[in-house]
Amino acid sequence: MTPNVRPLIAGNWKMHGSLAEAAALSGAVASGAASAPPAADLLVCPTFLHVASVAAAMKGGAVAVGAQDCHANAKGAHTGDISAAMLADAGATFVILGHSERRADHGETDAVVKAKTEAAIGAGLTPIVCVGETEAERRGGQAESVVAGQLAGSLPEGFAAAGGVIAYEPVWAIGTGLVPSEADIAAIHGMIREKLVAAFGEAGKTLRVLYGGSVKPNNAKAILALPNVDGALVGGASLKAEDFLAIAAAA
Ligand code: PGA
Repeated sequence: MTPNVRPLIAGNWKMHGSLAEAAALSGAVASGAASAPPAADLLVCPTFLHVASVAAAMKGGAVAVGAQDCHANAKGAHTGDISAAMLADAGATFVILGHSERRADHGETDAVVKAKTEAAIGAGLTPIVCVGETEAERRGGQAESVVAGQLAGSLPEGFAAAGGVIAYEPVWAIGTGLVPSEADIAAIHGMIREKLVAAFGEAGKTLRVLYGGSVKPNNAKAILALPNVDGALVGGASLKAEDFLAIAAAA
């Protein structure tokens, strides 16, 4: 945790669930958060298709809603894409950008992620920019340099002023049950903090840096207690309200 920074626990629902399941999960998260308010901000990120209905269900409560991607352009002939302004109009206030699954599945480069981040900020959304090394890069001793390169290439000038969030997600820890050692998480988060301060000055000291990759109720407390870990980006465990709320309660 960073002193005086309120943690953010964000659920990335990925490509899961029907409308009815998204409604049930939203309801369970909202009522759990209302009956036992955690010491953290809460966010859920459903698929594009479910953003509007989940945002309507969360309206007036303590749980924010975000999307998992947006297009870099404000509008135009981009079949199948969704703009940041459309997401804001549907009730989203956050958007995850540059997730490793998008970098892998859709060939998103740092430059693409930067352009999308600029678009998100322009539409008034808070961007959550994901970075993280692959297993081969970690084994090759390149984890810090890969993450530093992604930060240098993915963050636009207005990132700090928009209260942007970073999520450090080692690719090999996502959905695998594997988690880096506490020392390794602390080392990367410390490096990210240094880069944020170097890029944005004083404002970089309080930007939130989340950890993501196999965060579960049984490891959340130890991870969230590490220096410069200001919350978590949770995939699998965010699909069960009970687990997601248990992670939030550990913050
Ligand atoms: P996981 O996913 O919690 O299922 O490992 C995290 C993520 O990809 O954001």
